[in-house]
Amino acid sequence: MMEEIWRVDPQLAEAICKEIDRQAYKLELIASENFASMAVLQAQGCVMTNKYAEGYPGKRYYGGCQWVDVAEDLARERAKELFGCHHVNVQPHSGTQANMAVYMAVLKPGDTILAMDLAHGGHLSHGASINFSGQLYNVVFYGVDREKETIDFHQVRELALKHRPRLIVVGASAYPRVIDFAAFREIADEVGAYIMADIAHIAGLVATGLHPSPIPYCEFVTTTTHKTLRGPRGGMIMCRQEFAQVIDKTVFPGIQGGPLMHVIAAKAVAFKEALSPDFREYQSQIVKNAAALAGTLQEKGFRLVSGGTDNHLMLVDLRSKGITGKEAEGALEEAAITVNKNMIPFDPQKPFIASGIRIGTPAVTTRGMKEPEMVAIGEMIARVLEHPGDPRVRREVADQVRELCRRFPLYDRLQRECQS
Ligand SMILES: Cc1ncc(COP(=O)(O)O)c(C=O)c1O
Repeated sequence: MMEEIWRVDPQLAEAICKEIDRQAYKLELIASENFASMAVLQAQGCVMTNKYAEGYPGKRYYGGCQWVDVAEDLARERAKELFGCHHVNVQPHSGTQANMAVYMAVLKPGDTILAMDLAHGGHLSHGASINFSGQLYNVVFYGVDREKETIDFHQVRELALKHRPRLIVVGASAYPRVIDFAAFREIADEVGAYIMADIAHIAGLVATGLHPSPIPYCEFVTTTTHKTLRGPRGGMIMCRQEFAQVIDKTVFPGIQGGPLMHVIAAKAVAFKEALSPDFREYQSQIVKNAAALAGTLQEKGFRLVSGGTDNHLMLVDLRSKGITGKEAEGALEEAAITVNKNMIPFDPQKPFIASGIRIGTPAVTTRGMKEPEMVAIGEMIARVLEHPGDPRVRREVADQVRELCRRFPLYDRLQRECQS
């Protein structure tokens, strides 16, 4: 796969090989990342990138679409089977684009959205003031309860009754607990609001029944395809049949031009993988691994937001350890462990500093790691964070990480191609 890149552009080839090496020999604990399979990578690098295919299968604005039609139909049919939805659009280039399409389909500028606060786990595209969503719409935020640190349904209902949103956005980037979609439906029905569930993070768990599905409760469900779902980077929208036309029209020609057919081909492959029994095993191991890692960190005296995790991620509150999220991210990076700093609910720090880190298990689980490795990883994290100023500790942990990564190879064929 790499020879031609080496021949044409050695500078870029070197960067790719270094990135392969980084992914293979560091511990990837960013909750929104994963390692796509070789089949997904190959589909994403295929000749379908050359094809313009504005429109939808059978109704394109360009000739020569018969084979890309096959790819998009496969992706659509498999997505429907995977999630049990009525209609799906697999063309959004990203999760943000998927959310934008839903907003544009059902809202006018100035309409009210009720969404989860970014600082409590929400996403930028759910109405943050620095994002188009916060600039075009009137956004009201709900959050988590101060005590339990789980979604405060009393507040959601009060805000819904007061502000009468046209759309309620449910879903998060940093929420470690099960989301009760039925409870949101009851509130939405009281005020006549639509619901858009953004399951970008938990899509793999939803697809395999390890997290309750939003499909029966929500008019719209958006997701990314590259997180727990382990596909190519991209987005997708599922909706009830009555909204099929408006969603399709809003994606194209509304907000996008030609679809990325190579990415849609890779989505088809990823959905096929996700329909296999192995994928359920994999998702279930992600959850078991998160529980094992969370348990180890708690034994080492770390406080987890909401007291633990039900899914693939956890939020560690570092305040009692006297270290900020930014410092922790930096110290762990030097120990070859990749996490991201993250705000915790009611965080006294600014977002760029933050009081916490977010840790997720999808990527390490893809490598085949299980509970014993999670205990070891938890111990390594604790050791680094308890000695943040000690370079010797970081070096020793980095050596341990390299050894652990060697036992769970990743992309070894690609690595060999880089070495030859
Ligand atoms: C809940 C949620 N929605 C949407 C997105 C946006 O996805 P993208 O980065 O593909 O635009 C993310 C990304 O982290 C997310 O966590």
